[in-house]
Amino acid sequence: MGKEVQLPFTVASFFSGIGGLDLGLERAGFEICFHCEINPFCRTILSQHWPDLPIHHDIRKLDDAEIPETDVWAAGFPCQDLSLARMGPRSGLRGRQSGLFHEFVRLVRGCSPGAIVLENVHGLLSSHGGRDFAIVLKALDELGYRIGWRVLNSKDFGVPQQRRRVYIVAMHKDRGDPAEVLLEPECGSWNTKKGGSDGKKSPSLFQTIIGDPGNGPLVKSIAHCIYAESARHTGTDWSRNYVWYPDGRVRRFTPNEVELVQGFPANWTLPNPIKENEAKRIDSLRYHAVGNAVTPTVAEWVGRRLADAMAKHDCGNVSNGTGSRVDIDSLETRGVFETVEV
Ligand SMILES: C[S@@+](CC[C@H](N)C(=O)[O-])C[C@H]1O[C@@H](n2cnc3c(N)ncnc32)[C@H](O)[C@@H]1O
Repeated sequence: MGKEVQLPFTVASFFSGIGGLDLGLERAGFEICFHCEINPFCRTILSQHWPDLPIHHDIRKLDDAEIPETDVWAAGFPCQDLSLARMGPRSGLRGRQSGLFHEFVRLVRGCSPGAIVLENVHGLLSSHGGRDFAIVLKALDELGYRIGWRVLNSKDFGVPQQRRRVYIVAMHKDRGDPAEVLLEPECGSWNTKKGGSDGKKSPSLFQTIIGDPGNGPLVKSIAHCIYAESARHTGTDWSRNYVWYPDGRVRRFTPNEVELVQGFPANWTLPNPIKENEAKRIDSLRYHAVGNAVTPTVAEWVGRRLADAMAKHDCGNVSNGTGSRVDIDSLETRGVFETVEV
């Protein structure tokens, strides 16, 4: 007889933003039970889509006792200090924003969730020569987790956007294997060929134009990464992602279009009603929140595989690991980290 598994698994969400990670996990069958988000606009959007859920405002003021017991904790912690898109030096996990990861770890230490899903820019892997990522691995390792990570690109998950993000799955040592969640055999049949059938190199998706050449609108068949931008016409996002018409007119993507390119349902970030104090800035608020979000289809893929891995294991009592030595040889775009007992 197979083990009886209680579904759905439950999730507490931190740095929830507009709930991209949550939406994907929900589509994978998880039940979201808790949000933590400091930005008032994002909180409006969260309560529009999850009207019955508590939203805690500030992770720095959150106590263990305020978090409901759940199977999984999910967190796309702030990326500003880790992002390669940032001009100038990156302060990494010492930064005011990305350093909030340490607040998350404080809560993990107190509550020991069975599994954790983290998402961030892939710059996390290279920040301070890899030392910041080592800090992430070490912190979770010391709390008794096995850890896997993989850089996933949204364009491989049904959305027209080049968006490379690192997904980290941590599972308590007796509760599952993150490698089963994130890693696949190297040469699956889905690997695409480099050239076409005539042996010529396939054109880049950025060079392929779609739309009506007579009247427009025209766009590149894939968008460059959508960043958190304002509605002012100065952003790097708008200089790379635009719509044009044969008569010479050019415009940036609308907030609805960036939502779709990110894989959200239409108007996900349109508040109903729009608050008076946000009306003038509504486009900026939407561009910014969508640019910060996790692509839900990627989160759904991770979630489905996580649910399978959890269902295979006993998700009962959580226990911490034992003393161990961290041994970090290389930090690559995907891997599994386990300590070597000494
Ligand atoms: C990268 S975004 C997360 C996006 C989210 N995963 C999604 O899919 O929409 C990081 C979020 O952390 C929030 N944040 C920053 N400081 C915070 C704090 N002290 N407490 C709670 N949330 C915070 C930001 O407002 C932002 O929405």
